[in-house]
This record gives sequence, structure tokens and C-alpha cells, in this order.
Amino acid sequence: MKKILSISVITMTSLIILNSCSPKESEKQKDLSKKNISLKDLYKEDFYIGAAINDYQIGKTDTLGLEILENEFNTITPENIMKWMYVHPKENEFYFEETDKYIALGLEKNMFIVGHTLIWHSQIADWMNEVTDSADMANHFKNHINNIVSRYKGKIDSWDVVNEALNEDGTLRESSFLKVMGNDYIDLAFKLASNADPKAELVYNDYNLWKPKKREGVVRLVKQLQANGTKIDGVGMQAHWSLDGPSIEDIENSILAYSELGVKVMFTELDVTVLPNPWDLNGAAVEQNYDKFEGDPIMNPYPESLPDSIQLKLAKRYEDIFNLFLKHKEKIGRVTFWGVNDGQSWLNGWPIKNRTNYPLLFDRNYKPKKAYNSVIKLKNTSN
Ligand code: XIL
Repeated sequence: MKKILSISVITMTSLIILNSCSPKESEKQKDLSKKNISLKDLYKEDFYIGAAINDYQIGKTDTLGLEILENEFNTITPENIMKWMYVHPKENEFYFEETDKYIALGLEKNMFIVGHTLIWHSQIADWMNEVTDSADMANHFKNHINNIVSRYKGKIDSWDVVNEALNEDGTLRESSFLKVMGNDYIDLAFKLASNADPKAELVYNDYNLWKPKKREGVVRLVKQLQANGTKIDGVGMQAHWSLDGPSIEDIENSILAYSELGVKVMFTELDVTVLPNPWDLNGAAVEQNYDKFEGDPIMNPYPESLPDSIQLKLAKRYEDIFNLFLKHKEKIGRVTFWGVNDGQSWLNGWPIKNRTNYPLLFDRNYKPKKAYNSVIKLKNTSN
């Protein structure tokens, strides 16, 4: 009796659901059935495809962002929480709460988990800038890298070990690390990381790595590490690009040059700005300051929405970029967007504060843009 009752309840409910299906709702259902088309599934034989995530996704309050993450991506990078100033704010104090949540999320969603970043002159804790003795600094490196890498051993799949160590001409940046410890600080960082987790993938990450001079600098650096017997598995090209540059040819030449060294190429921070650049664009160095342009409408031409013509340009740009990635898929380990949707992109606040930028594949309402469709279409030949 109980059984019959429950069956009839189910039947009734389904009838009500079926009957109440307006044309709009059936459209929605069609949309849902399209869900099996996703970036990560279409590109699964080619490379990982992912996004940098922020506190809202890690804290699970951005539910729509999490949905996109789960449906579309299979690798994550923490946008800020693992940087030295947050994770190691005082000499003998580590703060792992956020990173633990980040790792738990990655494991729960079965993601390829990236650690970003161990050694970077920017967003470093103030106390590290006061270290002037080379042996002291080496000890801080040891403490920092050993603690963090061992804590997440076997869980973080890939580390951005050193970030932005090169100048635009390929020479080593005059960071406090270089000044205090000399050239060998990079080698030390990679050695410490590989000792702490021998199986993790280790990457050198930087911006403007398409530039020929900087490219030569990376090649020298990787060769030097290899000559020292130090493990390095990949070069991360940040890929903060614009509608017009860099050229596909320059990017391709770098892919070829790096992969010839026997390392993988990663595109670690992909976004494409559509806004005017106030400077002779020299990359993504976060310390550049362009406050004087804040509020200038010429520098913020699309405060309400992106005109169709630019939307199409962006879609074409992404098509060209992913065409190149596919051409060299066996050389590429992963492609990570720097953010989930346009509203969350750092490019709304950098290099000029308070602008409205549109650099990613999902808009401010978490809807896929034309650029998303062009990346999908390259693989979805059934359409
Ligand atoms: C950026 C973050 O997106 C911002 O939220 C933060 O204010 C500054 O750093 N190169 C990198 C990233 O390696 O860590 C930077 O991320 C962007 C440039």
C-alpha cells in the first residue's frame, strides 16, 4: 500500500512537472542537456584548462563561479592566497587556513592543483625585505619552501617555483633576492622544492615571455638549471595579452624555444585586455602605477557594456590563440585563465583603478561570451 502510494505520488509530481513545462523551460532543459559540452571535456586530450580562483570561490560563497569551475575547468591556481605576504606573514608564522580550503576544494572537484607562487619579489612579506645577509635569506627560503611544499606534498601537482625573475632584456631582475644572494637563488629555490616534493611539477613563471630578448634569458636560465642537475619541468608564460599583441608568431617562437629545452610550456595567467593601454606596454609588472589616469573616460571606453564589434574581435583573438595552442598541444601542459569571469578580473583594477574590462570567456553574469563559443567551436566539430 505504502509502495503504491509513493509511486502514484511520484507519477503525479512528474505529470505536474511535465504539464507546467512552458516553452521557455523546455529551452532551459535543452541548454542543460548541452552541459556535456565543456572546455575541459573538449580539450581533455590536449591540455588541462583552468582558472585562477579567489576568496569567494575558495570560501564557496560564489556559487555561480563554482558551478563554472566545476563544469568547465580541470585545473585551479590560487590568485592571491598563497603569496608570501599571506602565507608567511611573519618570520616564524605561517597562515595555512585559506590554502587548506583551496586544496580541499581542488581535491573535492578532482582538479589539477597549482601552487602559486613560492619565490616572488612582489606581494612578499615586509620582513623579508629587511633581510640583508645571504645565509639568513637562504635559511628563510629553506623554511618557506620546505614548510609549504611538504605540507601539500602529493596534493599540489605543480608549483610556480620562481615568478618574474627576469628583466625585459633577459637579464636577472635586481630583486632583493638577487642583491642579497646572487644568481644562485633561483637554483636554490628549485632544489628546495624538488627535495620537498620530488614528484611535483616545477615551473619558472614570468610575463612577456614572447619577447625575443626575454625568451633568450629564459633559455639561458633553464639551461643553467639543467647544467646544475636541478629539476625544472616547465616554463609558465603568464599570457596577460591584448587584442593586438603579442603576435601569434612571437608566441609560437617561444613555445618552440622552450619545448626544445625538453620542458613543457604552460599558459598560466591568460587574459586579453580590450582597454587602451596608458603605457608603452611592457608587461604585467604589478608595481607599475598609473593613478593619474583613474576616472579618465578615454581610458575606460566601455563602462556599461562591450560593443559587438569588440566582442567579435575578442572572440577572433581567442580563436587565433587557441588555434596556436592546439597546433602545439603536445608541448603544452595547461592553459589557465586569470579569473573565472570578467567582473572578477584583476584587469578592472590594473594598471588603472576602477575600469570595466572584459578579458575572459565568461561575462559579469557568468554567461559564456562569443569568445567562449570560439574556443569551444575549435574542438566541437559536431556543431
Ligand atoms: C595579481 C592578482 O590578480 C591581483 O588580485 C593582485 O592584486 C596582484 O596580483 N602576475 C602574477 C599574478 O604572477 O600573481 C598577479 O596576480 C598578476 C601578474
